[in-house]
Amino acid sequence: MQPLEFKFMQEFLLRKIGLALNNDKQYLIKSRMTRLLREHGLDDVNALSRTIRQKPDGDLARQVLDAMTTNETLFFRDQYPFDALRDLIFPELTAAKGAHGKINVWSAASSTGQEACSIAMTASESVPGPGRVHILGTDFSVKAVAAASKGVYSQMEVQRGLPIKQLVRFFEQDGNRWNVRPELKKMMRFAHANLVEDQLVSTVRRHGPFDVVFCRNVLIYFTPEERAKVVDRIARSMQKGGYFVSGATETPEGNVSRWEQVLFKGKRLWKLL
Ligand SMILES: C[S@@+](CC[C@H](N)C(=O)[O-])C[C@H]1O[C@@H](n2cnc3c(N)ncnc32)[C@H](O)[C@@H]1O
Repeated sequence: MQPLEFKFMQEFLLRKIGLALNNDKQYLIKSRMTRLLREHGLDDVNALSRTIRQKPDGDLARQVLDAMTTNETLFFRDQYPFDALRDLIFPELTAAKGAHGKINVWSAASSTGQEACSIAMTASESVPGPGRVHILGTDFSVKAVAAASKGVYSQMEVQRGLPIKQLVRFFEQDGNRWNVRPELKKMMRFAHANLVEDQLVSTVRRHGPFDVVFCRNVLIYFTPEERAKVVDRIARSMQKGGYFVSGATETPEGNVSRWEQVLFKGKRLWKLL
């Protein structure tokens, strides 16, 4: 890739979605753009870069950003966050809010929805009073949000992390696909939102304030400065005393908020003070 174009792409990815791409990651751009180049009849990534330079907010630019995000996810990923919801967080919130109080949960960077579904299943099985738990899933990827909203999973997807008991209870088979049943679907909403934009706070405001936020396996892609800003935006959307659940190797940083570390089965969760 021409150095000028690679530099432009690095800055573009950082500015638009907070993706910090090292100098040795040129191959990643090339490999992720193969399909787009073909679809748009472009010669190579340099031509692609020149095109989006002219229209950084255009449709092609959005598709480039979408293609650069990693949507890898699975049901009940890491398991302990869902055990923590069942055994610690939901009981605490239910006691604090009484029998009918609303509980708002946000899956920030929800990808294709498996995380939100796992939260919904856990709530269904452990929170008394159906309809109290409202789950918002957001992601930058328009494709991922569309898939999550559909709530249709392949055999391969349901085989990743979903126990047979929950599969049978919460999903309906339709040929070789599995549809999320309406009782689960109505607990979830999905929307497009960019974690690195200040606008994030107003985009999610009407679904909050949040008692629990899952923001997992996305903070790792950001620079420390950007990570701190994202966490502060999330904190501004949360209820005091609410829980922040990060990925197993991630920690919240930030200066507008203070977090109390809570250990659950030796794993760290974070409580907003
Ligand atoms: C690896 S997936 C993690 C999904 C899920 N949280 C999990 O842990 O299984 C990361 C997700 O973050 C999304 N993402 C990346 N940058 C983002 C941004 N700036 N704003 C919102 N979502 C972003 C990607 O589109 C992708 O779906």
